[in-house]
Amino acid sequence: MPKTRAYSISAEDIASEKERVGGDLDRFDVARVIKLDDLELPEPGPRDVHLKILAASGEHNVDHAALADTINITESRGGKIYPGNSAVGEVLAVGGEVTKVAAGDVVLIHCNGEPDEFGYPKRIWAYDMPDSIGWYAEEAVVGDWQVVKAPLDCGLNLWEIAALPLRAPTAYHLWRRALGIYRVKVSREQKAVLNVLSFGGGVGELFLMLARAEGHDAWFCSGSPERRAALEQQGIAGIDQKQFNRFASKDDVKAFSKEVKKLTGGEGMHLVCDMLRGPVWPAGFAVASRQGVNVSAGWQLSQVIEYNSTIASVKQVTLDHTHYETLVGVDAATELYGKVFKPTVHREIYAFEDLPRAFEEMHQNVQTGIPIVRVAKDMPDAVSALVS
Ligand SMILES: NC(=O)c1ccc[n+]([C@@H]2O[C@H](COP(=O)([O-])OP(=O)(O)OC[C@H]3O[C@@H](n4cnc5c(N)ncnc54)[C@H](OP(=O)(O)O)[C@@H]3O)[C@@H](O)[C@H]2O)c1
Repeated sequence: MPKTRAYSISAEDIASEKERVGGDLDRFDVARVIKLDDLELPEPGPRDVHLKILAASGEHNVDHAALADTINITESRGGKIYPGNSAVGEVLAVGGEVTKVAAGDVVLIHCNGEPDEFGYPKRIWAYDMPDSIGWYAEEAVVGDWQVVKAPLDCGLNLWEIAALPLRAPTAYHLWRRALGIYRVKVSREQKAVLNVLSFGGGVGELFLMLARAEGHDAWFCSGSPERRAALEQQGIAGIDQKQFNRFASKDDVKAFSKEVKKLTGGEGMHLVCDMLRGPVWPAGFAVASRQGVNVSAGWQLSQVIEYNSTIASVKQVTLDHTHYETLVGVDAATELYGKVFKPTVHREIYAFEDLPRAFEEMHQNVQTGIPIVRVAKDMPDAVSALVS
C-alpha cells in the first residue's frame, strides 16, 4: 500500500512539551505534540474497506492523549499513536468478502474498537485498542464492521454529519440508559414529562436533543453563549454556567441549586448528563430530583468523584457510568441524524493542515461548536451538494 499523510502523537513530544512548560498544563500547547506524519497503511484483507477520509471531527480524547492528563495512552501504546476515531469517508475499494458497502459509497466510521459479548466496546479505536490506526489521515483501512452508510439525505450538511459518528452514539447510549433507569423507579403513568439537564459539550447537547424530541423539558448549562443560543433554537433552555462561576465554590453550587428549584417548581432534575465531573459534579448531584439519575461517559475535568451516600440513598438517586454504544446502537443513533441530532458546528471548518490548531483551540475552550476538519480537498459528487 502507498503511504498516506496521518497525524500522530508521540510520547517523546509529550515529554518535551511538558518539560518546556515546566509541567504547567495550563501553558501546554497541544498543537506542538500533534504532528503530521507519513504512515504506511496495512494491506487490506478480504473483509476490509479502503477509505479516502473526507472530514473528521475533533474529539476530546485527543486532548487527553496529548496532555497525558488521565493516562499516558501514547506511552502505554508503545510510544506513538495515530489518533482520530470519528470520521466520514468515501469507499475507494473493498475486499472480496465485503457486501455491506461498495466503492463510491460514503460511510461513517465509529469508535467501538472491540465489542464485548453484549456489543459494548472493551476498547476504543485509535485510543486504547492495540495496533489501531486513527482517521486524522487522508486514507484508512478498516474492517467492514466498522463502517455505517452515511445518511446523506438526512438534511444535515457534510460538516454536521461529520460531527456525529462518535458523539451521537455516546449520547444515544447515555439517554437510553438514563431514561431506562429512571423508568425502573417511576413509571410513565406516574410522571410523563421529565426535567433533563446537561452541562457543556457536544455529547451533552445531543443528549438534550433526544430529551426534547421525546417531549421532556431540557436545560443546557454551559459557559458558551453561542452554544446556548443554538440549543435555544431547538427548544432547549440555556443556563449560563459562568453566572455560577463554573461552580468554583460551595456557594456557587448552592446558588445554582436554588435557581434549578425555581426553574423546576421545586422538583429538581430527573435526569442529569455530566461528561465533565470536577467542579461540575457536585452541581449536577445537588440538583438531582428524588429518584433522579446522573449519567456520565466522561471525566474531562476529573476522574474521581465524591458524594454523600446517605443523601443518594434517601433521595434514591442513581449514578450510572456508560462508555459507548453497541454496533446496533450505532446504527440506531445514525437513523436519528437530522431528525433529532442537529449538532452545533464551530464556525471555522479547519483545513487538514490546521488540525493541530483545531486541537489547541479545543483545549482553550474557545470554539463555538464541534470542531470539524476538512480532510479531502476534492469531494466526491455524492456530497458536493452538502459542502458549502
Ligand atoms: N466515553 C465516550 O465514548 C465519550 C465520548 C465522547 C466524549 N467523551 C468525553 O466526554 C467529555 C466531553 O466531551 P464532548 O465531546 O461532549 O465535549 P466537547 O464537545 O469537546 O466540549 C467540551 C466542553 O467542555 C466544557 N468545558 C471546558 N472547560 C470547562 C471548565 N473548566 N468547566 C466546565 N466546563 C468546561 C465546555 O463547556 P461550556 O460550553 O460550558 O464552555 C465545552 O463545551 C470529554 O472528556 C470526552 O473525552 C467520552
